[in-house]
Amino acid sequence: MDLKKGEFLYEGKAKKIWASENKGRYIIEYKDDLTAFNAEKKATMEGKGALNNAISAYLLGYLNSKGVPTHFLEAVDERHQIVKAVKIVPLEVVLRNITTGSLCRRLGVEESLQLPRPLVEFYLKDDALGDPLVTEDHALLFGWATREELDTMKVLTLKVNDLLRELFEKHGIVLVDFKLEFGRTEEGELVVADEISPDTCRFWDRSTGDRLDKDRFRKDLGDVLGAYREIWRRLSTEEA
Ligand code: TMP
Ligand code: ASP
Repeated sequence: MDLKKGEFLYEGKAKKIWASENKGRYIIEYKDDLTAFNAEKKATMEGKGALNNAISAYLLGYLNSKGVPTHFLEAVDERHQIVKAVKIVPLEVVLRNITTGSLCRRLGVEESLQLPRPLVEFYLKDDALGDPLVTEDHALLFGWATREELDTMKVLTLKVNDLLRELFEKHGIVLVDFKLEFGRTEEGELVVADEISPDTCRFWDRSTGDRLDKDRFRKDLGDVLGAYREIWRRLSTEEA
Protein backbone atom coordinates (compact mmCIF):
# COMPACT_ATOMS: atom_id res chain seq x y z
CA MET A 1 0.00 0.00 0.00
CA ASP A 2 1.20 3.51 -0.75
CA LEU A 3 2.87 5.43 2.05
CA LYS A 4 2.33 8.96 0.89
CA LYS A 5 1.62 11.04 3.96
CA GLY A 6 -1.29 13.43 3.62
CA GLU A 7 -2.39 16.07 6.08
CA PHE A 8 -0.63 15.93 9.46
CA LEU A 9 -3.32 15.21 12.03
CA TYR A 10 -1.91 14.68 15.51
CA GLU A 11 1.20 14.18 17.59
CA GLY A 12 0.91 12.16 20.78
CA LYS A 13 3.54 11.15 23.29
CA ALA A 14 4.67 8.07 21.39
CA LYS A 15 3.16 8.41 17.91
CA LYS A 16 2.33 10.80 15.08
CA ILE A 17 -0.66 10.43 12.80
CA TRP A 18 -1.24 11.55 9.22
CA ALA A 19 -4.09 11.25 6.78
CA SER A 20 -3.11 9.25 3.68
CA GLU A 21 -4.00 9.56 0.02
CA ASN A 22 -6.55 6.87 0.62
CA LYS A 23 -9.72 8.13 2.27
CA GLY A 24 -10.50 6.07 5.33
CA ARG A 25 -6.83 5.25 5.98
CA TYR A 26 -4.38 6.90 8.37
CA ILE A 27 -0.62 6.51 8.63
CA ILE A 28 0.86 6.11 12.11
CA GLU A 29 4.51 6.71 12.92
CA TYR A 30 5.93 5.14 16.08
CA LYS A 31 8.38 7.52 17.77
CA ASP A 32 11.40 6.70 19.93
CA ASP A 33 10.02 8.86 22.75
CA LEU A 34 9.03 7.39 26.08
CA THR A 35 6.98 9.20 28.71
CA ALA A 36 5.53 8.28 32.08
CA PHE A 37 3.53 9.88 34.87
CA ASN A 38 1.59 12.13 32.51
CA ALA A 39 4.78 13.06 30.67
CA GLU A 40 6.58 14.36 33.78
CA LYS A 41 9.27 11.81 32.97
CA LYS A 42 10.58 11.74 29.42
CA ALA A 43 13.29 10.02 27.41
CA THR A 44 14.18 9.09 23.87
CA MET A 45 15.48 5.60 23.18
CA GLU A 46 16.69 4.81 19.72
CA GLY A 47 14.91 1.75 18.39
CA LYS A 48 11.91 1.89 20.73
CA GLY A 49 9.59 3.04 17.94
CA ALA A 50 10.60 0.20 15.63
CA LEU A 51 10.14 -2.38 18.41
CA ASN A 52 6.71 -1.08 19.37
CA ASN A 53 5.69 -0.89 15.73
CA ALA A 54 6.66 -4.54 15.27
CA ILE A 55 5.08 -5.74 18.53
CA SER A 56 1.89 -3.75 18.08
CA ALA A 57 1.50 -4.82 14.44
CA TYR A 58 1.94 -8.43 15.51
CA LEU A 59 -0.57 -8.24 18.36
CA LEU A 60 -3.20 -6.19 16.53
CA GLY A 61 -2.85 -8.47 13.49
CA TYR A 62 -3.25 -11.46 15.79
CA LEU A 63 -6.46 -10.00 17.23
CA ASN A 64 -7.79 -9.29 13.71
CA SER A 65 -7.12 -12.92 12.80
CA LYS A 66 -9.09 -14.06 15.87
CA GLY A 67 -12.13 -11.96 15.02
CA VAL A 68 -11.50 -8.95 17.29
CA PRO A 69 -11.89 -5.87 15.09
CA THR A 70 -8.94 -3.45 15.25
CA HIS A 71 -7.87 -0.42 13.24
CA PHE A 72 -4.67 -2.18 12.11
CA LEU A 73 -4.18 -2.97 8.43
CA GLU A 74 -0.49 -3.20 7.65
CA ALA A 75 3.00 -2.36 8.91
CA VAL A 76 4.73 -0.74 5.96
CA ASP A 77 8.24 -0.16 7.29
CA GLU A 78 10.19 -0.01 10.54
CA ARG A 79 8.22 2.91 11.91
CA HIS A 80 4.96 3.12 10.02
CA GLN A 81 1.61 1.39 10.00
CA ILE A 82 -1.46 1.91 7.87
CA VAL A 83 -4.64 1.80 9.90
CA LYS A 84 -8.32 2.46 9.38
CA ALA A 85 -9.23 6.09 10.01
CA VAL A 86 -11.12 6.26 13.29
CA LYS A 87 -12.43 8.85 15.71
CA ILE A 88 -11.00 7.90 19.10
CA VAL A 89 -13.45 7.34 21.95
CA PRO A 90 -12.12 9.59 24.76
CA LEU A 91 -11.81 6.72 27.23
CA GLU A 92 -8.92 4.44 28.11
CA VAL A 93 -10.03 0.95 29.05
CA VAL A 94 -7.72 -0.77 31.53
CA LEU A 95 -7.98 -4.48 32.27
CA ARG A 96 -6.16 -5.96 35.27
CA ASN A 97 -5.50 -9.63 36.04
CA ILE A 98 -3.08 -8.89 38.90
CA THR A 99 -3.03 -5.93 41.28
CA THR A 100 -0.26 -3.37 40.84
CA GLY A 101 0.36 0.21 39.70
CA SER A 102 -2.27 2.90 40.17
CA LEU A 103 -4.82 0.41 41.51
CA CYS A 104 -2.64 -0.27 44.56
CA ARG A 105 -1.73 3.41 44.97
CA ARG A 106 -5.35 4.55 44.73
CA LEU A 107 -7.07 1.90 46.85
CA GLY A 108 -4.28 0.72 49.13
CA VAL A 109 -4.82 -2.90 48.12
CA GLU A 110 -1.95 -5.35 48.30
CA GLU A 111 0.50 -5.66 45.38
CA SER A 112 0.68 -8.66 43.03
CA LEU A 113 -2.60 -10.30 44.05
CA GLN A 114 -4.18 -12.51 41.42
CA LEU A 115 -7.72 -11.17 40.99
CA PRO A 116 -10.52 -13.79 40.99
CA ARG A 117 -11.68 -12.37 37.65
CA PRO A 118 -10.43 -9.58 35.37
CA LEU A 119 -11.12 -6.04 36.54
CA VAL A 120 -12.15 -3.52 33.85
CA GLU A 121 -11.80 0.23 34.48
CA PHE A 122 -12.50 3.33 32.41
CA TYR A 123 -10.29 6.43 32.47
CA LEU A 124 -11.03 9.73 30.77
CA LYS A 125 -8.43 10.57 28.11
CA ASP A 126 -7.50 14.04 29.27
CA ASP A 127 -3.82 14.84 29.88
CA ALA A 128 -4.61 18.13 31.62
CA LEU A 129 -6.65 16.22 34.21
CA GLY A 130 -4.14 13.34 34.42
CA ASP A 131 -6.53 10.79 32.86
CA PRO A 132 -8.87 10.38 35.87
CA LEU A 133 -10.70 7.14 36.67
CA VAL A 134 -14.39 7.56 35.73
CA THR A 135 -17.55 5.54 36.17
CA GLU A 136 -19.75 4.27 33.35
CA ASP A 137 -22.40 6.76 34.44
CA HIS A 138 -19.92 9.62 33.95
CA ALA A 139 -19.26 8.35 30.44
CA LEU A 140 -22.98 8.11 29.67
CA LEU A 141 -24.02 11.43 31.20
CA PHE A 142 -21.22 13.43 29.58
CA GLY A 143 -21.60 11.70 26.23
CA TRP A 144 -18.15 10.09 26.02
CA ALA A 145 -19.70 6.78 24.96
CA THR A 146 -23.14 5.20 24.64
CA ARG A 147 -24.42 2.29 26.74
CA GLU A 148 -23.97 -0.01 23.77
CA GLU A 149 -20.41 1.20 23.19
CA LEU A 150 -19.44 0.70 26.84
CA ASP A 151 -20.81 -2.83 26.69
CA THR A 152 -19.00 -3.56 23.42
CA MET A 153 -15.74 -2.14 24.79
CA LYS A 154 -16.00 -4.35 27.86
CA VAL A 155 -16.78 -7.49 25.87
CA LEU A 156 -13.94 -6.82 23.41
CA THR A 157 -11.47 -5.99 26.19
CA LEU A 158 -12.26 -9.27 27.97
CA LYS A 159 -11.84 -11.14 24.69
CA VAL A 160 -8.50 -9.40 24.05
CA ASN A 161 -7.45 -10.49 27.54
CA ASP A 162 -8.37 -14.12 26.91
CA LEU A 163 -6.50 -14.16 23.60
CA LEU A 164 -3.39 -12.29 24.69
CA ARG A 165 -3.08 -14.02 28.04
CA GLU A 166 -3.03 -17.37 26.27
CA LEU A 167 -0.59 -16.12 23.63
CA PHE A 168 1.85 -14.66 26.18
CA GLU A 169 1.50 -17.67 28.44
CA LYS A 170 2.95 -19.78 25.61
CA HIS A 171 5.98 -17.50 25.64
CA GLY A 172 6.49 -17.68 29.39
CA ILE A 173 5.06 -14.22 30.03
CA VAL A 174 2.30 -13.22 32.44
CA LEU A 175 -0.05 -10.55 31.11
CA VAL A 176 -0.56 -8.50 34.28
CA ASP A 177 -2.64 -5.62 32.92
CA PHE A 178 -3.06 -3.50 29.82
CA LYS A 179 -4.76 -0.43 28.39
CA LEU A 180 -6.85 -0.30 25.23
CA GLU A 181 -8.28 2.56 23.24
CA PHE A 182 -11.19 2.27 20.88
CA GLY A 183 -12.19 4.19 17.78
CA ARG A 184 -15.22 4.54 15.55
CA THR A 185 -14.56 3.86 11.87
CA GLU A 186 -16.22 5.82 9.07
CA GLU A 187 -18.62 2.88 8.74
CA GLY A 188 -19.54 3.29 12.40
CA GLU A 189 -17.84 0.15 13.68
CA LEU A 190 -16.20 0.26 17.11
CA VAL A 191 -12.68 -1.18 16.83
CA VAL A 192 -9.58 -1.54 19.00
CA ALA A 193 -7.28 1.36 18.08
CA ASP A 194 -4.00 2.93 19.19
CA GLU A 195 -1.27 0.38 20.07
CA ILE A 196 -0.65 -2.73 22.16
CA SER A 197 2.97 -2.80 23.25
CA PRO A 198 5.23 -2.82 26.31
CA ASP A 199 4.30 0.87 26.64
CA THR A 200 0.66 -0.06 27.25
CA CYS A 201 0.84 -3.45 28.98
CA ARG A 202 2.57 -4.97 31.97
CA PHE A 203 4.45 -8.18 31.17
CA TRP A 204 6.16 -10.24 33.87
CA ASP A 205 8.50 -13.09 33.07
CA ARG A 206 6.78 -16.19 34.44
CA SER A 207 9.88 -17.82 35.92
CA THR A 208 11.98 -14.85 37.06
CA GLY A 209 9.30 -12.22 37.66
CA ASP A 210 11.39 -9.78 35.60
CA ARG A 211 9.48 -6.74 34.40
CA LEU A 212 9.47 -6.71 30.59
CA ASP A 213 7.60 -3.45 29.96
CA LYS A 214 7.54 0.30 30.58
CA ASP A 215 7.73 -0.22 34.35
CA ARG A 216 11.49 -0.57 33.73
CA PHE A 217 11.41 3.09 32.71
CA ARG A 218 8.84 4.26 35.28
CA LYS A 219 10.78 2.67 38.15
CA ASP A 220 14.32 3.16 36.80
CA LEU A 221 15.00 -0.57 36.63
CA GLY A 222 17.40 -0.18 33.69
CA ASP A 223 17.69 -1.86 30.28
CA VAL A 224 14.29 -0.69 29.06
CA LEU A 225 15.01 -1.52 25.43
CA GLY A 226 16.40 -4.93 26.35
CA ALA A 227 13.00 -5.79 27.82
CA TYR A 228 11.13 -4.58 24.72
CA ARG A 229 13.56 -6.57 22.55
CA GLU A 230 12.94 -9.67 24.67
CA ILE A 231 9.17 -9.36 24.18
CA TRP A 232 9.64 -9.08 20.42
CA ARG A 233 12.18 -11.92 20.37
CA ARG A 234 9.76 -14.26 22.12
CA LEU A 235 6.75 -13.26 20.01
CA SER A 236 8.66 -13.59 16.76
CA THR A 237 10.24 -16.94 17.64
CA GLU A 238 8.21 -19.89 16.39
CA GLU A 239 8.95 -22.34 19.21
CA ALA A 240 6.48 -20.99 21.69
P1 TMP B 1 -1.79 1.93 35.87
O1 TMP B 1 -1.58 0.88 36.89
O2 TMP B 1 -0.71 2.98 35.85
O3 TMP B 1 -3.16 2.53 35.94
O4 TMP B 1 -1.69 1.23 34.45
C1 TMP B 1 -2.51 0.16 34.09
C2 TMP B 1 -2.12 -0.34 32.72
O5 TMP B 1 -2.44 0.63 31.72
C3 TMP B 1 -0.63 -0.61 32.54
O6 TMP B 1 -0.47 -1.77 31.74
C4 TMP B 1 -0.10 0.59 31.80
C5 TMP B 1 -1.28 1.05 31.00
N1 TMP B 1 -1.35 2.51 30.86
C6 TMP B 1 -1.20 3.10 29.63
O7 TMP B 1 -1.02 2.42 28.62
N2 TMP B 1 -1.32 4.46 29.54
C7 TMP B 1 -1.53 5.24 30.60
O8 TMP B 1 -1.63 6.47 30.45
C8 TMP B 1 -1.67 4.63 31.89
C9 TMP B 1 -1.91 5.45 33.12
C10 TMP B 1 -1.58 3.26 31.97
N1 ASP C 1 1.57 6.89 29.52
C1 ASP C 1 1.30 7.83 30.54
C2 ASP C 1 2.10 9.08 30.30
O1 ASP C 1 2.93 9.14 29.45
C3 ASP C 1 1.51 7.33 31.96
C4 ASP C 1 2.25 6.05 32.18
O2 ASP C 1 2.29 5.21 31.32
O3 ASP C 1 2.78 5.86 33.31
O4 ASP C 1 1.90 10.04 30.95
